[in-house]
Amino acid sequence: MVNEVESSKHKLPEGDRTIAVVAMPADTNPSGDIFGGWILSQMDIAGGVAASRLAQGRTATIGVKEMEFHKPVRVGDLVSCYTQIQKIGTSSITVKIEAWTTNHYNPGGPVKVTEGVFTHVAIDENRKPRPVNKS
Ligand SMILES: CC(C)(COP(=O)(O)OP(=O)(O)OC[C@H]1O[C@@H](n2cnc3c(N)ncnc32)[C@H](O)[C@@H]1OP(=O)(O)O)[C@@H](O)C(=O)NCCC(=O)NCCS
Repeated sequence: MVNEVESSKHKLPEGDRTIAVVAMPADTNPSGDIFGGWILSQMDIAGGVAASRLAQGRTATIGVKEMEFHKPVRVGDLVSCYTQIQKIGTSSITVKIEAWTTNHYNPGGPVKVTEGVFTHVAIDENRKPRPVNKS
């Protein structure tokens, strides 16, 4: 587990570890590193999980901001997405997401590779915004 990695010189992830997935060769860009769009989609999945849990139902992503790619992700890295609810609006839920990697073959992490702020909207069966229960 990432949080069990003993490290005095590395910062540790902030938020709840919402998803974790191993980066595979099929996810690479032409240079052999992991494609940024794949990382972004993992973060979107994690944000959707956190938002839908809170909204107790379906949500859709409406916006992504403050995306920063700090470090490359490599094949075989375990990518963990950590989520923190930043703001709950009427129908919107804003989630800060950090992606961190560890690699059992190359210990020394965890390394923060990417972060961003995703906004999800709670929607009803007609795909229209619905209020989020804040209680
Ligand atoms: C999500 C969707 C139903 C929202 O409908 P809408 O009529 O555009 O929504 P509204 O203008 O009423 O705004 C809804 C909320 O989103 C917020 N919002 C709107 N645009 C935003 C943006 N660019 N960034 C962040 N929040 C935004 C609004 O402030 C509002 O928040 P609040 O209810 O908490 O006050 C519609 O935009 C949609 O279907 N978009 C496509 C979603 C999609 O396909 N996503 C990718 C796959 S999940």
